Amino acid sequence: MLQYWDELDTQSKAKLLKQIESIDFDLFNHLVESTRCIENKTSEIEMSPSPFISLEDSSVDWNALTRTGEAMIRQGKLGVLTVAGGQGTRLGWSGPKGTFPATPVTGKSLFQVIAEQILFASQKYDVKIPWYIMTSIENDQITRSFLLDNNCFGLDRTDIFIFPQGVIPAVDENGKMLLAEKDVVFTNPDGHGGVISALNRSGALEEMASRSLEHLSYVQVDNPLIKVVDPTFLGLHCSDHSSGEVTSKCVTKSGPDERVGVFCKRGGSINIVEYIDMTVEQTHELKDGQLAYCCGSIAAHLFSTSFIKNAAGDLPWHISHKSIPHFDSTTGNKVSPAEPNAYKFERFVFDLLPLASNSIVMQTKREEEFAPIKNAQGIDSAQTSMKLQCDRAIAWLRACGVDVSEEAMVEISPTTAASIEDIREIELPTEIGSDEVVSL
Ligand code: UD1
Repeated sequence: MLQYWDELDTQSKAKLLKQIESIDFDLFNHLVESTRCIENKTSEIEMSPSPFISLEDSSVDWNALTRTGEAMIRQGKLGVLTVAGGQGTRLGWSGPKGTFPATPVTGKSLFQVIAEQILFASQKYDVKIPWYIMTSIENDQITRSFLLDNNCFGLDRTDIFIFPQGVIPAVDENGKMLLAEKDVVFTNPDGHGGVISALNRSGALEEMASRSLEHLSYVQVDNPLIKVVDPTFLGLHCSDHSSGEVTSKCVTKSGPDERVGVFCKRGGSINIVEYIDMTVEQTHELKDGQLAYCCGSIAAHLFSTSFIKNAAGDLPWHISHKSIPHFDSTTGNKVSPAEPNAYKFERFVFDLLPLASNSIVMQTKREEEFAPIKNAQGIDSAQTSMKLQCDRAIAWLRACGVDVSEEAMVEISPTTAASIEDIREIELPTEIGSDEVVSL
C-alpha cells in the first residue's frame, strides 16, 4: 500500500492514509485466509428442490391474506428497500442503473417506476411509505441529484433515505492488496448483501424504528414489472405459513439455462443458489417431467426489520476470481491483466434466507412481475423488458373488456393502477388499434 509513498505529495499521502484507516484489517485477514481454502471448495452443492406456495393454490385464502396485507400497509408498517449500488456494466449505461429509461411509451426511468408505485400505494392507503435506497460511493451523488432534480417523482423528500454501501479491498494471489492508483487502494462494492451493514451504519434502522416500521419490501432496481407494494405477498409473509422474517417471490424458470438464482433446500433450510454454482446435471434435472429446480429467484423479498437488525454481520462472503487493473509492484506500471489475477469479495442479500426460522417462497406469475433489464441487447434487455411491460398492460386492459390489438404500444402508469382491480376503477377506451401508442 505504501510502495509509492515517497513519490506522493502531502495531499495524496493524506488521502491514502484516510483510506487505509477505513479498512477493516481483521476482516481482510480473515478473507485472505478464505482464499487459501478456495481450492478445497466442492464443485457440487448438495441440495434438493425448494417447496413453494403458488398464487394458483386454491387451498390458500388469498383474499384474506390480501386484506391482512392491506391493513398492515394502512397502519404504516411497510417500507420499501431498493438496492441500486450496482454498476450496470452489462447494460452499457454510464449513469446509475436507476436512471435508465425503461418504459415502452414514455421512457420513465427505473427509479421513477418504483417511486410512482410507492406514491400510488401511499395515496391509495393514505399512509407514508418510506423508501430506502442503497447506492454505491460512485453513484451516490448522481442518484441524489437525479431524484431531487425530478422532485422525487412526487414523493416527499423526507420519506426517502439514501445511503451508500460499503467497499472492500480485493486480494492478489500472494495475499496482498492492489493499488488502483499510486494513492488509492483498489476496493470494490461489498455486494447487495452489504445492505445489512449499510442500513445499520447509516442510521436507517433507527429511522425505521422511529416510524414503527415492521417490514421492508426489498426490490432490485432493474425490474420495472415488480410489484413494489404487494398486499397479498405481505399478507402471506405475516400469516401462519411463515415465521414473518423473510418471504421471497419466485417464478417458474423459463428453461434450464436461464441465468437466475434458484430456490433450493440445503441442510433443512431454504437457500438461493446462483446458476453459476449449479452443475449442468442439477440445472437440467427433471422431476415429474418438469425442471426439478424450477423456482427462479426474481430477487424480491419481504424482510422483517427486527430480523434484519439481528442478522447484521452474519452474512458469508463470496469469492470470485477476477482480472483487476492495478499498479504492478515490480515494474511500477499500470497493468490490465487478461487473466484473473485477484480475488474479489461480495456479500449476497439472499444469504439471509437460511438465517430465518421458517422462510417461505411464493410463486408468482412471470408475465405479471418479471421483466428485468440487465443487458444492452438480446435476452433481458430494455427491448425485451418493454415488450413484456406492454404485454402486461394489454392483458390488464383485455381483462377489463377493452379490445386491444396485439401490436398496440400500451403503457399503464404506476400512478394509474397497480393491478387489474385498479384499472376497473378508471375510464377506459373500448378499443385500441394496432398502430396506436397509448399511455394511461
Ligand atoms: C440477480 C441475482 C439472481 C436473480 C436475478 C433476478 C445476484 C448475485 N443474483 O442477478 O439470483 O435471479 O438478480 O433478476 O444478486 N447491487 C448493489 N450493490 C452491489 C451489487 C449489486 O446494489 O454491490 C444491486 C444492483 O444495483 C441490482 C441488484 O443488486 O439492483 C442485482 O445485481 P446484479 O449483480 O445485477 O445481479 P444479477 O446477476 O442480475
